[in-house]
Amino acid sequence: MGAENDPSLAIDQALADLRAAFLPRFRGATSEQALRDENAKILGKKGELTAILAMLGKAAPESRKAIGQKVNALKQEVEGGFEGCLEELRAKAREAELSAPPFDLTLPGREPVAAGHKHPISIVREEVIALFRQLGFAVFDGPDVEHESNNFTKLGFPPDHPATDMQDSFWTKSGHLLRTHTSNIQIRAMSSMKPPMAFIAPGTVYRRDDDATHSPMFHQLEAFLIDRNVTLAHLKGVLAEFADRLYGPNTPVRLRPSYFPFVEPGAEVDVACVFCKQTDGSRAGCSTCKHTGWIEILGCGMIHPVVLENCGIDPDQWSGFALGMGLERIAMLRYGIPNIKLMFDNDPRFLAQF
Ligand code: DAH
Repeated sequence: MGAENDPSLAIDQALADLRAAFLPRFRGATSEQALRDENAKILGKKGELTAILAMLGKAAPESRKAIGQKVNALKQEVEGGFEGCLEELRAKAREAELSAPPFDLTLPGREPVAAGHKHPISIVREEVIALFRQLGFAVFDGPDVEHESNNFTKLGFPPDHPATDMQDSFWTKSGHLLRTHTSNIQIRAMSSMKPPMAFIAPGTVYRRDDDATHSPMFHQLEAFLIDRNVTLAHLKGVLAEFADRLYGPNTPVRLRPSYFPFVEPGAEVDVACVFCKQTDGSRAGCSTCKHTGWIEILGCGMIHPVVLENCGIDPDQWSGFALGMGLERIAMLRYGIPNIKLMFDNDPRFLAQF
C-alpha cells in the first residue's frame, strides 16, 4: 500500500482538528440538552469520532495500533470535557435558582390544564334532586336487582303485562330482574315506612331497548308524596314548580290522560317546547316538538288505592301522587342532544362541551 493511500495522516489531522474544536463547542452550549446534542455529534453512533475510527480499517496495519490509541485517548478527553461542562452548566443553573427570588409557597395553585367535566346526566340529576329537595322531598335509595313483586306485581301490573315479558326485561336465573323503572322505590318506601312521606328516587334502570332514543341502561328519577287529602291539584302544583325551575319562569305545563297500572288517574306531562319559544311566549313549532309546541317530559298520576293497600297503607286515610321521568330525555331536551348513544360513548369531544 503506497503512503499516498495510507489515511494515517488524514486521521491524524482529523484528530487534531477535533481535539482543538470540541471544548469550545461544549462551552458554547447554554443548556444541558444543547450540550448533550453536541456530545452526540462527536461520540454518537454517527458521530465525528466514530467516523474517524471507521477510517482506521484503511490505515496501514503497522500504524493501526498507534492511531487506535490516539483515537481512544481523544475519546477520553472528549468524555472528560463533556462531564466537566455538564458539571459547570448544572452548577450555573443551581446558582441561578438559588439567587432567583424565593418560590412563594403562598401563591394560589394554577388551574389544571384539563379539569374534568360533569356528565350531562349528572348535571341534570343533581339539578333535579336539588330542585325537589327545596320542595321538601328526601332521597330514597334501592337496589338495581329487584324482586318481581316490587317492580311489577305490587305496582298493579297484571301477570301478562308485556313489560313483564322475557323479551322486554333482563331477568336473572334466580327469577329476579334488573329494575325496569324507579317506581319500585314507591313500594319499598311505602312498605317500610308510615305516611306522611315525600321521596325522590334517582337511579339506573334497564330494558331490552336499543335505538336512537333508547338505551338498554338509562336513568330515571321518581318522586312521590303521600299524606292526608292529597289531590291532583298538589301534583299539578309540584309539576308547575318543576317546569318553572328547570325550563324558566311561567313555562306552560299540560297533563294528557294516560295509563300506568300504578296510578289512577294517570297522565303524561308536556311542557311548552323550549326550542321554538318566541319572544312573546308563543311557540312557533319545530322538529323537536314535532310542530305541536309541546314536549313530553314525564309520567305521573294519583297513586292507585290498590298500590297503597299492597303496601299496608289505608287508602281511605291516605292519598298520594307519583311521577317518574327519564333523565336522559331531560338532558337531551336541555342541551339539544340528538342521539342518546352520545351520552354513553364517552367521547371526550362530546363530554368536553358540558
Ligand atoms: N314508571 C314509569 C315508566 O317507567 C314512569 C311513571 C309513570 C312513573 C307514571 C310514575 C307515574 O310515578 O306516576 O315509564
